[in-house]
Amino acid sequence: MILVTGGAGFIGANFILDWLRESDESVINLDKLTYAGNLENFLELAGDPRYAFVHGDIGNRALVEGLLLKHRPRAIINFAAESHVDRSIHGPGEFIETNIVGTFKLLEGVRVFFSAMSAAEKSAFRFLHVSTDEVYGSLSAIDPAFKENNPYQPNSPYSASKAASDHLVRAYHHTYGLPVLTTNCSNNYGPFQFPEKLIPLMIVNALAGKPLPVYGDGLQIRDWLYVADHCSALRTVLANGRLGEIYNIGGWNENTNLAIVHAICDLLDEMRPRDDGKAYSEQIAYVTDRPGHDRRYAIDAGKIKRDLGWRPQETFDTGIRKTVQWYLDNQDWVGNVQSGTYREWIEKNYGERVE
Ligand code: NAD
Ligand code: DAU
Repeated sequence: MILVTGGAGFIGANFILDWLRESDESVINLDKLTYAGNLENFLELAGDPRYAFVHGDIGNRALVEGLLLKHRPRAIINFAAESHVDRSIHGPGEFIETNIVGTFKLLEGVRVFFSAMSAAEKSAFRFLHVSTDEVYGSLSAIDPAFKENNPYQPNSPYSASKAASDHLVRAYHHTYGLPVLTTNCSNNYGPFQFPEKLIPLMIVNALAGKPLPVYGDGLQIRDWLYVADHCSALRTVLANGRLGEIYNIGGWNENTNLAIVHAICDLLDEMRPRDDGKAYSEQIAYVTDRPGHDRRYAIDAGKIKRDLGWRPQETFDTGIRKTVQWYLDNQDWVGNVQSGTYREWIEKNYGERVE
């Protein structure tokens, strides 16, 4: 079996659901259930004996070591993190606590478990750390895309905390021989993404008749990857990745935020036209920029293609259509995550931005 941490969030939930569609190997999901964790993501697994949920923190050494000894997973896939850049600007403390201290404590628990394994168990064991392209910093319009050997230049508390966790994972490989793999992925989108991130926020705001808040000039560039493609890349790295290596994962799909928002508006015009017949793009509102906003990210996903044969299956056109359809079909899920704390976050992040 495998242990997934942070599996109740966006990518982790997609990973678990895809994993159990692709294989019969059991999964334990250890998740703290922060605002971003949602057990409603697993309704289709009700009663499935291959899946078990454990409520807890990766920073709880006793819990982690107990779980490892009891279940003896052959791999750990670490998704657990605070993941939203804007939240890290308003309050970095939780990011330091989970992304740095939590990863450290998880690694310590895994080190104890690993050191007591037989040689055969050791050679089969893997610790896959899921990280981000943001650790490499920001690119100019003409810079080449990020490669695995780019220097780390994180710019936000979020990316700095992820960078620190990547360094710890690397150090546990070099110092203790822990069999680690690290992936650095670009911006994901797809089903179950919490509507604080650009794409789901724009879809739910558009449908609710609210403004579509574009930061600054909207010409910042991200490299968008459909979440199922990220999950298939992670399965590939887990199966065939070389120990201690880093693999960049991306969609070969750079675009400006403004173009992304227009694409969503155009799709909604087609799939769920506004009652007044006007275009959703009329709801676009330019608002005060994010402090320290990285201008451009771009991933060179050549290594994972060359070495492991992985490349994304979805284009942005096919992926965004599936995503918009999912949010249209899952309005109950959306309604249930828009709790009081969600409304407080929206007020905190957008209340003081000037149009
Ligand atoms: P998310 O915020 O949707 O989910 C994070 C999950 O981690 C939640 O279920 C939360 O409850 C859980 N969690 C938080 N702190 C925890 C702790 N201390 N112990 C156990 N569980 C904890 O995040 P996501 O978008 O699914 O991202 C998952 C991982 O992928 C993160 O490590 C993130 O840095 C990385 N990543 C995300 C993207 C993206 O575009 N979303 C891109 C590249 C990498
Ligand atoms: O690059 C990978 C990273 O992508 C992940 O590591 C992070 O976990 C994930 O949150 C994401 O970070 P970004 O900051 O790029 O994603 P976000 O969806 O918050 O913003 C995408 C872009 O859209 C960014 O340039 C900021 C802009 N934006 C975002 C929001 C929420 C807006 O213009 N308006 C908004 O309301």
